[in-house]
Amino acid sequence: MSTYQTVLLDIRDNAAYVTFNRPEKRNCMSPTLHAEMCKVLDEIEKARCKVIVLTGAGDAFCAGMDLEQCFLEPFDKPELMAEINTNAFGWFTRIKKISAVTIGKVNGWCFGGGMALAGVLDIVIAADESTWGLSEINFGIFPGGGTTWAYANNMPSRKKALYYALTGETFTGKRAHDLGYATKSVPLAQLDAETDRVVKMLTRLGRVVLGKTKEVYEKVLDMDFEVAIDYEMAKMWELSRETNDDWVRTALVSFKKREFKPGLQSYELKRDV
Ligand code: COA
Repeated sequence: MSTYQTVLLDIRDNAAYVTFNRPEKRNCMSPTLHAEMCKVLDEIEKARCKVIVLTGAGDAFCAGMDLEQCFLEPFDKPELMAEINTNAFGWFTRIKKISAVTIGKVNGWCFGGGMALAGVLDIVIAADESTWGLSEINFGIFPGGGTTWAYANNMPSRKKALYYALTGETFTGKRAHDLGYATKSVPLAQLDAETDRVVKMLTRLGRVVLGKTKEVYEKVLDMDFEVAIDYEMAKMWELSRETNDDWVRTALVSFKKREFKPGLQSYELKRDV
């Protein structure tokens, strides 16, 4: 595994653990971090991980874009700024549609671009005590670079979404859960244990079915019901083929023998699918 200046990467037991490692800068995302995340995702995809957990070192999850290194310093160097943006939006787009399940473990400060990141991940487990905010309005811009998309898509209530974007008022991880931005929130002291529990549930399942579940969910959002039925059935047979028909030949045969109850647990995977 490679070592990076701004990110820690640990790959074990089918999961990749990514830690933004600039605690002294509250893990804000510098040009180096963006470039390194592109390489980190290459490594994770090569390892065929089922799950990716993203968190921050120290008391911050991510304080957004590095306002000095991503905006102030390269402001009069358009080529440099374009390169930074290509990396930043490149890995943001990529992680949004990666086939591994992505989990944000929001341990502390989560602002601006940090909320964009939390907004494109599949599952977010937040510390009750974490502090979130769309702070852009405080320095005179609106949330850009996908952050408006992220907050608009993660806070179903227009009244609440616009309130936080317009005022920049901070809110807690507990509130992020109430708003629908976080999947769940737990006291900070339980954040590691709860995340580990969810990772264990996911890594017991098949890699292909996890990826297809995400892909089908995203695609059907834009479809009519009848089109969705056709698409889902086609994808179902594609999944079946790619997993050697494991769902029937192993799982349902095992159910018939009363070896497990699918309502309460998953069947035992016998191969790497
Ligand atoms: N960009 C650049 N530097 C940042 C940063 C960011 N987004 N967020 C924090 N830092 C830096 C600070 O400038 C400071 O650097 P220094 O030690 O060299 O002076 C260091 O990180 C620690 O920040 P500090 O403000 O002293 O920590 P704090 O714990 O008191 O406050 C925050 C934490 C997150 C509330 C505060 O740093 C902040 O408001 N950051 C900006 C958040 C933001 O608006 N992000 C949106 C970007 S899209």
